[in-house]
Amino acid sequence: MRKTCSCITRNCTGKSYKKTVNYHQFSSQQESRHREENQRTNNCRLKTERRALNFFNRQFSINNRQSTIDNQMKRLSILGSTGSVGRNVLRVVDQFPERFSVAALAAGRNVGLLAEQVMRFTPEVAVVLNEDLAGQLKRMVMGARRLEILHGLDGYRAAATLTSADLVVSAMVGSAGLLPTMAAIEAGKSVALANKESLVMAGELVMGTARKKGVSIIPVDSEHSAIFQCLAGHRRQDLEQIILTASGGPFLDKSTEDLDGITPETALCHPTWKMGPKITIDSATLMNKGLEVIEAKWLFDLPLELIQVMIHPESVIHSMVVYRDGSVIAQLGLPDMRAPIAYALSYPERLPLGLPVPDFVDIGSLTFRELDLAKFPCLALALEACRIGETMPAVLSAANEVAVYAFLNHRIGLRRIGEAVQQVMSRHEPVSDPGLSDILEAAAWARRTAEEVARLPSPPTVYSLGASEPGNGGQV
Ligand SMILES: NC(=O)c1ccc[n+]([C@@H]2O[C@H](COP(=O)([O-])OP(=O)(O)OC[C@H]3O[C@@H](n4cnc5c(N)ncnc54)[C@H](OP(=O)(O)O)[C@@H]3O)[C@@H](O)[C@H]2O)c1
Repeated sequence: MRKTCSCITRNCTGKSYKKTVNYHQFSSQQESRHREENQRTNNCRLKTERRALNFFNRQFSINNRQSTIDNQMKRLSILGSTGSVGRNVLRVVDQFPERFSVAALAAGRNVGLLAEQVMRFTPEVAVVLNEDLAGQLKRMVMGARRLEILHGLDGYRAAATLTSADLVVSAMVGSAGLLPTMAAIEAGKSVALANKESLVMAGELVMGTARKKGVSIIPVDSEHSAIFQCLAGHRRQDLEQIILTASGGPFLDKSTEDLDGITPETALCHPTWKMGPKITIDSATLMNKGLEVIEAKWLFDLPLELIQVMIHPESVIHSMVVYRDGSVIAQLGLPDMRAPIAYALSYPERLPLGLPVPDFVDIGSLTFRELDLAKFPCLALALEACRIGETMPAVLSAANEVAVYAFLNHRIGLRRIGEAVQQVMSRHEPVSDPGLSDILEAAAWARRTAEEVARLPSPPTVYSLGASEPGNGGQV
């Protein structure tokens, strides 16, 4: 009798390889231990697949219901309207005025731009960070009719839960997005999600609440939108793996030593993408890809082992799904955030955006490379935080936020970002089965500790590089 067993094993970047084990080399005790181990892995995988299947069935049944209201006007509440994603959302609204209108606009400090948006899109509610900014906004939009101006967390919550809003676009940057996103879900609002930090910090709670409330969370991030599109029409139990592509950022071919001399101005000058400053720096360190792995884990209910990251410098393939018959389904397109944004706003319909399609002859070839985790410690730290789970991803995210703004303010070098995050993570004792308050507490602790570690003031009070251009937005 042939006594062999084929097991799928995965390395840390998710790459899978088949290992054939010959039981003749085993003692009977080793053989039964190996069989038990395999059984456990299979059971765990089956459980994950069943959960994923149930979740997707639910998502699709909600979305089928949604498709019956296609072609109707959708009212949007846009959190982070003055940012790179927010401005691209408004470009889509501008292009399809018969399909979208604006119920609420929420910004941070850019009152000037918000005032222009208010006059152009006439929302019912406009929100800014504090009372002083609210006063400034009031003076700037004197002529606006039926406008309520709010500020602070209560204001963001009000915008996220507005009765007249059909869809909430969550596009604030960083941890500030978590509570308004949660408020929207609690209120039963569908969410087009760009703010990845809310899933990184509290993925289980956010998705758990969405499931309970029967709310759709539709990805805006281009990689996640690609996976979402590659999953449509396929059986979830046939999924073998997902592959998130990464351009590798502007410093892919630089040596580790070269990274020492990088200034914020150089790091912000990305050759192909124009995005907000934080995500641009996260892209340079590849922390962004790590945050995206955690985002994908929660969004698609997948174990870390089934998520692979691959360098693809051309950024034409936005991500791929591998099925068990060896087929790989990919989503391709030129990098322009209006495409995933419009898909999230109009899902399952596709809007005639008029964007150019890739000229494959002109592109010539698409290339792929393996990741060098040693060169990009931030990505390695994110994978580690994901493996540890509990409150560790919230700590990673908060410490990174502090360190990124410190870099942008010329207080630390680019490589120090990863070192600071690592130091904060090493001091954290994860809280098991955390509730929202545990997560917020852990994040607040991480911010204080990161400031102490890198001797930094708090980011929002010192950050002053100004707003980014809307550009094409996108992912690195
Ligand atoms: N940019 C992209 O192409 C892209 C692609 C995929 C995913 N994402 C994700 O989308 C989110 C937004 O990214 P972005 O590039 O658009 O960022 P961004 O350009 O920096 O814009 C951030 C937005 O959040 C607001 N904001 C900042 N701090 C706030 C606070 N404490 N309270 C309330 N609002 C605050 C800003 O307001 P003010 O400017 O008025 O202060 C702005 O409207 C991030 O989570 C990012 O990872 C971005």
